[in-house]
Amino acid sequence: MEMKQRTIAVFVNLAERSYPIYIGSGLLATAGRHLASLSPGGRALLVTNPKVRSLYGEKVEKSLREAGFQAVTAEVPDGEEAKSLAVAEKLYDLAYAGGLDRQSPVIALGGGVVGDLAGFVAATYMRGVPFTQLPTTLLAQVDSSVGGKVAVNHPRGKNIIGAFYQPKLVLADPDALSTLEPRELKAGLAEVIKYGAIADAGFFAWLEANLEKILAPEPEALAHAVAASCRIKAQVVEEDETEQGRRAILNFGHTVGHALEAFTGYAAYRHGEAVAVGMAVEARIAVAMGVFPKEEAVRLEALLRRAGLPVAFPAALRRDLTAGRRDEFLALLQRDKKARGGKYTFALPVKMGRAEVFRDVPEEIINSNLLLR
Ligand code: NAD
Ligand code: GLY
Repeated sequence: MEMKQRTIAVFVNLAERSYPIYIGSGLLATAGRHLASLSPGGRALLVTNPKVRSLYGEKVEKSLREAGFQAVTAEVPDGEEAKSLAVAEKLYDLAYAGGLDRQSPVIALGGGVVGDLAGFVAATYMRGVPFTQLPTTLLAQVDSSVGGKVAVNHPRGKNIIGAFYQPKLVLADPDALSTLEPRELKAGLAEVIKYGAIADAGFFAWLEANLEKILAPEPEALAHAVAASCRIKAQVVEEDETEQGRRAILNFGHTVGHALEAFTGYAAYRHGEAVAVGMAVEARIAVAMGVFPKEEAVRLEALLRRAGLPVAFPAALRRDLTAGRRDEFLALLQRDKKARGGKYTFALPVKMGRAEVFRDVPEEIINSNLLLR
């Protein structure tokens, strides 16, 4: 007999913007019932993409129908290009033509791309309608569906047009992760490892002991990892919802990671892979600053390697960075988090399970650690 896995609840406490995240096997098939407890049925907009729709669309549509919703399903292209104002406009058209009003929920079924786009539409259609996230990638379950950052891209940069707009509900079904490409699972795992490194040494040790179960992937292990990650992110977001200070610790690995993504034209790396390289490099910077023990940086790098994630710049890029394009890369680091007076801002670990924001990292330290391996 198949054991039914229990559902774990994590609450994001933000006064009138508070919401639950439920994590558990089979949740996608109960989406309608959960939504019906928040709104009285009627019109809804389900945003997804062709790949995710073919895997999980029918299950979610059926559950919405059974709960009394008349949902319009909108398919957006698969890939980052869907996060555009042009695609958002098509969704506004569909919502309006489908008779959605200010009470009608927008539901995101997919990875971070679908979640960010649908959230942006929910935040702006009729000045804001209820938003629910059904994240189907590991990255979306542990990061993008939690915390209310929603956005589309501008031709000049990623996530330039957006808002802080919290969902009413997040349902994370670990069963959905069984169909993910292994590369996508690993990319999401980089963010999971990040949470251990910045906020919970016990969770980091659990990941060291259970990595193979996550990579298998075993739904129970995944559910535990997702829940622990969401708890950590929820706590940080509760302290600093709009990133005035503490929320920036979530950027560990991201300053170098974002620069690496931009430097390689967003074509070479999944976001999580670039963040893995970023964490390894930034951990070395923290060691060089004298704020993080070397043995912990070695431990972090070892776990990233075991997860099949990259931890150093590839040879071609190393050649570029030594052959005169270093300033270009440093400029990208500055753009990410505004350098002041030749110093750079980084979120760095100070011990395993704790990170702080440093606004005074000298350029020499970055230069002498960028290409170490
Ligand atoms: P994605 O949404 O492009 O999904 C990755 C791939 O997996 C896609 O091809 C998708 O169709 C496919 N997929 C989704 N679910 C699947 C499933 N269950 N089985 C098989 N395939 C599936 O990428 P992502 O990594 O989930 O998200 C990246 C986006 O998230 C970026 O746009 C990034 O800016 C954003 N993001 C936002 C936040 C935030 O706080 N809002 C945080 C981190 C990242
Ligand atoms: N992904 C970082 C944040 O939500 O703040």
